[in-house]
Amino acid sequence: MPSHFPTLQPLQAAAMIRDGQQVALSGFTAAGTPTAVPRALATHAKSEHAAGRPFRIRLLTGASAGLADDLLAEANAISWRAPFQGSRLLREQINRGEVDFSDLHLSHVPQYVEFGFAGTIDWAIVQATDVTPDGRVYLTSGVGITPTILKHARRVIIELDAASTPRLSEMHDIAMLPPPPDRAPIAIMHPMHRIGVPYATVDPSRIAGVVHTNEPVFAPPFEPPGENSSRIAEHILRFLTEEIRSGRLPADMLPVQAGVGNVSNAVISAIGASSDLPDFTMFTEVMQDSQVELIESGRIRGVSTCAFNLSEAAHSRLISEIDFFAPRIILRPQEFSNNPGVIRRLGVLAINTVLEFDIYGCANSTHVGGTAMMNGIGGSGDFTRNAYLPIFMAPSTAKGGAISAVVPMVPHVDHTEHSTQIFVTEQGLADVRGLGPIQRAQRIIDCCAHPMYRDTLHKYLRDAKPGHQRHDLARVFDMHQNFTRTGHMLGESRPSGR
Ligand code: COA
Repeated sequence: MPSHFPTLQPLQAAAMIRDGQQVALSGFTAAGTPTAVPRALATHAKSEHAAGRPFRIRLLTGASAGLADDLLAEANAISWRAPFQGSRLLREQINRGEVDFSDLHLSHVPQYVEFGFAGTIDWAIVQATDVTPDGRVYLTSGVGITPTILKHARRVIIELDAASTPRLSEMHDIAMLPPPPDRAPIAIMHPMHRIGVPYATVDPSRIAGVVHTNEPVFAPPFEPPGENSSRIAEHILRFLTEEIRSGRLPADMLPVQAGVGNVSNAVISAIGASSDLPDFTMFTEVMQDSQVELIESGRIRGVSTCAFNLSEAAHSRLISEIDFFAPRIILRPQEFSNNPGVIRRLGVLAINTVLEFDIYGCANSTHVGGTAMMNGIGGSGDFTRNAYLPIFMAPSTAKGGAISAVVPMVPHVDHTEHSTQIFVTEQGLADVRGLGPIQRAQRIIDCCAHPMYRDTLHKYLRDAKPGHQRHDLARVFDMHQNFTRTGHMLGESRPSGR
């Protein structure tokens, strides 16, 4: 597509970026994230390193950044990263202390930039389907922090992606919040309310050039639900059905948010397949395959999201039937898709996965063994803290049973017991609303812990120092230490054959 702005080759664009600069990318997960310039930047970094010169950037994005994270990590080109990542290589660099990582609530990131907390954004690299001479930028399948970085970056490179249809703009609802004290209420009274325009804007004089690309990005196909996912989904279904029956949840349900991954995909499929639950809407941050099917069948009435995470098959279906899908999907900046005030107003049912939770209801989403970063808190805090009903799920064990998801105390806290209400594993569902700490602990152990771990957890509770919460600080991390020492959280008393 001819453009009003100078055309650049990816390497020309990358060569304008200097060592130590802060680069912000459009998108949210792989969706909407540029790849050609980050790939060229990785090549540029390697040649700078080969010539004996330092080259590392600070990298700010909306969420994880798909291939861009992998490529730049592989080139040792990242010195600082925020707010979330999902790259194995980058994770290793973070956990070796080679990359500084700032793990932020995703809804906070745009205002972090707006308030000046993130420092100077030297470059924004933005994937778009079109940019007009007066600076309207039509985005692709992930919005993230793009409107904010287009406003604040000193220089902008646009990747014009021929693989993305310009009709995606029909789903975009782009708006920005002014900084306090000038914020008005956000007029999203329903997941499908629009408050903005279908494009982001940029001062055209800041555009350094455009790079033409044709890079379709798809999520790997989803696995059919495993036994654990199916059981977790069954527990959640039964719970939601009972909530409606008892009148604690409106008969036409409330908007649903679900995290990314196979378990969430299976849970949404199961809600969609249930004849006991009504048609519903979603107010979420990432839209997955199951939602495409359920919009098509009419079970989902509409989805408000920040990005797609779709397999090639689901993506093709959506695009080939875009007349049908476009009015039923809204793509928003994460400042709105994850906005705490809107989440609380709409009464979102938040369903997310955690690594582990403790007997009193604190949950760890991020740090394996309390020390090693997994991905980041993402939007789980935005949703959990403000949800009508926060639901956390996890398989009851990891690593073939050697790790229990239920522990006496999580060694890293992302969600405190003040924010959590419902926990689910394949073993069952613990509803801890209204319970004091000891009852909470008993319910979480009895309903969620794997039977192999229940005696150990009950014994811990019995023997711990009495108090409002019973704890034995000398023994509270015995299960974690057993795992480090012996490879099993039960240590020497592990079941034989494991
Ligand atoms: N201790 C150590 N390792 C654990 C563990 C624990 N308690 N629980 C799980 N793991 C390991 C698994 O064994 C697996 O390891 P592998 O990759 O070597 O096989 C890995 O962690 C991922 O576990 P899995 O069960 O496949 O989980 P997942 O892909 O569903 O991801 C989270 C779980 C918690 C990492 C993921 O949901 C996440 O990053 N959450 C935070 C962000 C978030 O909630 N975003 C959505 C909000 S909208």
